[in-house]
Amino acid sequence: MAVFAILSDIHGNLEALDAVLQDISAWNVDKIIHLGDVVGYNANPCEVIEEVQRRRIQGVQGNHDIAALDIKMAEGFNLVAYRAILFTRQQLETIHFEYLKSLPFSLLLEGSYLFFHGSPESVNTYIANVFQARRAFNYLIKQLPSVRIAFFGHTHVPKIWSRDVRGKIRAVTWSDELIRLSPDEMYLINPGSVGQPRQKNNRASYLLMNTDKLEVRFRSVSYDILKAQKKILDAKLPEFLAVRLAEGI
Ligand SMILES: [Fe+2]
Repeated sequence: MAVFAILSDIHGNLEALDAVLQDISAWNVDKIIHLGDVVGYNANPCEVIEEVQRRRIQGVQGNHDIAALDIKMAEGFNLVAYRAILFTRQQLETIHFEYLKSLPFSLLLEGSYLFFHGSPESVNTYIANVFQARRAFNYLIKQLPSVRIAFFGHTHVPKIWSRDVRGKIRAVTWSDELIRLSPDEMYLINPGSVGQPRQKNNRASYLLMNTDKLEVRFRSVSYDILKAQKKILDAKLPEFLAVRLAEGI
């Protein structure tokens, strides 16, 4: 039983990661976990990998992590994401590639908490609507029946999906307040993105989960966006990647 801090989609944004780690230090956190996409989009892929390793943050592989290892896996990316992966591959050294290679597809903690990037079936699949949430719940019930709560990223938007005993699925409305989960329901929870938030709020987003009390809390943290933007422009990455950080899109 523990308090987890759950981070996703850091995407090479060192300023956002530093601000989130600073915020985490104010809570009694036992373990920090990331949900993949450590690299891509932003200017500091190596520094972010090194910080994640230094802080012993356990995590899983995202689609951008896989694309950084094998450029063929980036063929479906939009042009901006593709250019950022080319930049990322130029920056990474052997130790960074080794780290990305070492990440598993998913993590199971305490028997009932599962962590993955996109969906329980694929790093590339989104859980972005009720149909995709139903498919993910059905997969878990069949393949991993011990799982009660699964954490996912990939959409960059904070979200909680619940499934009650009747099989009814709904999006849980939430705020920055403490959210008490029901022991009778299953959940799919997205902490939002640290390094490229897309909820039209430019603050870095992550989640705290108390497994004793079955409570979660979304945290959103302001960080030095100007510095992250300047690094993007200095690295000659597409300008849109700087613009979107400020807009939270
Ligand atoms: Fe991502």
